[in-house]
Amino acid sequence: MERNSAIETIVEDPVLETSLRPTSFAQYIGQEKIIQNLEVLIQAAKEREETIDHLLFYGAPGLGKTSLAFIIAHEMNVNIKVTSGPAIERPGDLAAILTNLQENDILFIDEIHRLSRSVEEVLYPSMEDFKLDIIIGKGPSARSIRLDIPHFTLIGATTKAGMLSSPLRDRFGYVAKLAFYTHEELMEILHHSAQKLNFKLDKNAALELAKRSRGTPRITLRLLKRVRDWVQVKKAPSATKEIVDETLLALGIDHLGLDDTDKKLLHMIIDKFAGGPVGLDTMAASTSEDPNTIEDVFEPYLLQLGLIERTPRGRVATVNAYKHLNIPYKEKTIASQPSLFENIK
Ligand SMILES: Nc1ncnc2c1ncn2[C@@H]1O[C@H](COP(=O)(O)OP(=O)(O)O)[C@@H](O)[C@H]1O
Ligand SMILES: [Mg+2]
Repeated sequence: MERNSAIETIVEDPVLETSLRPTSFAQYIGQEKIIQNLEVLIQAAKEREETIDHLLFYGAPGLGKTSLAFIIAHEMNVNIKVTSGPAIERPGDLAAILTNLQENDILFIDEIHRLSRSVEEVLYPSMEDFKLDIIIGKGPSARSIRLDIPHFTLIGATTKAGMLSSPLRDRFGYVAKLAFYTHEELMEILHHSAQKLNFKLDKNAALELAKRSRGTPRITLRLLKRVRDWVQVKKAPSATKEIVDETLLALGIDHLGLDDTDKKLLHMIIDKFAGGPVGLDTMAASTSEDPNTIEDVFEPYLLQLGLIERTPRGRVATVNAYKHLNIPYKEKTIASQPSLFENIK
């Protein structure tokens, strides 16, 4: 298979991620409102000696959902069991996980929007009443029994809250939407991480990296690691803005943080579809990217930058997109309706 930048964007570097992952709220930069709510939730639960309510985190990949789940486990001083929506194929898989939990454990389900309906139905009563309904036997003699399971906290993470069924969404005590990070926040993450990685990152180098990281800590850390390679190979005393520029030029990342796939998507909307609207499936088919990846990874940042807009009929490239790609912008109404004018003549 051809190496595809979408996969590149979401692939994690386990060693780097683990070593740089924040382990306490104090180390977790940004998302202040969410942290404040979580701290209250945790303190109150501790005082009442209860488990905390079920939590749902949603937001683009790399914004810190998994990190938050681990920090909560750490602060509550409980175990965390990690699984994911696609890994729980049958209701029996979930039953096995739930019956193996200990009192107060956290169960973290990543990509929770990908749970099947039949698994979700087992999940509801276990979230609400800590009961598990299982069916024993088959046919007319089958009977259902109810088992007690330990009190646990479910933490769900998803890139697509809209794809969660509403009965599931309603069973979470707190739903938090993680935002993209500001340049200042990313710079703070970069400084801490450079310190941990033992190399010197100049302030304007950090700013340049932050600007080109799509508001996403995971991306900023990956770019930082590439910059560190350059610093090392060039035997430079510190990472300067010039080295950042050189590194990102070599990686094909422009001054807004767009990579080749982003540009391919914008060019496709503009060149092939006169600026849009284009449906998601058409975009996927004409760029050979996966529609889910376009929606989760590429689109949120392009929308955030105001380079595309979503309309009921599909995605549209904005004037800013034309400017960014140096393509002259044509007045849409005339360009898209030439036949009308021909008929009048
Ligand atoms: N708020 C934050 N402060 C510091 N580092 C962060 C923060 N959020 C994410 N990171 C870093 O980014 C990496 C990716 O975060 P992660 O929690 O795996 O994202 P998600 O689960 O949302 O895809 C983590 O390993 C961590 O090092
Ligand atoms: Mg994650």
